[in-house]
Amino acid sequence: MSQGKFITLEGIDGAGKSTQLAWIADFLQRRGVNVVVTREPGGTQLGEKMRALLLDTRLTMHPETEVLLMFAARREHLDKVIFPALARGDWVVSDRFTDASFAYQGGGRQVNSTKLENLEQWVQGVFQPDLTLYFDVSVALGQQRTASIKPADRFEQEQTEFFQRTRAAYLTRVEKYPERIHLIDASRPLQKVHEAVRDTLEILFFQK
Ligand code: TYD
Repeated sequence: MSQGKFITLEGIDGAGKSTQLAWIADFLQRRGVNVVVTREPGGTQLGEKMRALLLDTRLTMHPETEVLLMFAARREHLDKVIFPALARGDWVVSDRFTDASFAYQGGGRQVNSTKLENLEQWVQGVFQPDLTLYFDVSVALGQQRTASIKPADRFEQEQTEFFQRTRAAYLTRVEKYPERIHLIDASRPLQKVHEAVRDTLEILFFQK
């Protein structure tokens, strides 16, 4: 049996990833693929507990503690969910993965990127997603979209400058890994974004 594909979704808060995630899972299932939908931080019992700590607005933590928790949750996620699913031949679609650590902790919190690279190497070796869809929106649009949905978590309550650094770090990664990371302009109407996602998936995975 062949190994499944690993697809990750990225973007600043309010980019519309969650809506796209459900749509992508449905799209893949219609093409006969077994899909595992998951998320980071989280995706496992232990990881979801770490997520609760990471998003808790009542807690403060050192930026490097935040990094270590993100990668600890990721180690668990790879071991318990991602690797077994791919080995079964399932496809895994994850709402965020390591690019988020480079964007939020590296960009937003300004943690030294060499430290992040060392942890990446430690936790996942050379393993990378087959495809990363980066949903790009301006910080203003992201904030507008998150404002009304639910109470802000520990990241969503950050200032505009934090998200500007986060978005800039994502854009740097898009330039650095053009083969893997595909930028989708997510400021457009939902239908247009779906079409862009569909075209990317078709070309990469389903063209005869
Ligand atoms: P998010 O994926 O946006 O979930 P929801 O749609 O439920 O708000 O929330 C997860 C938050 O975690 C998000 O603000 C980004 C942050 N995050 C990091 O800072 N670093 C990481 O490595 C990951 C995976 C997420």
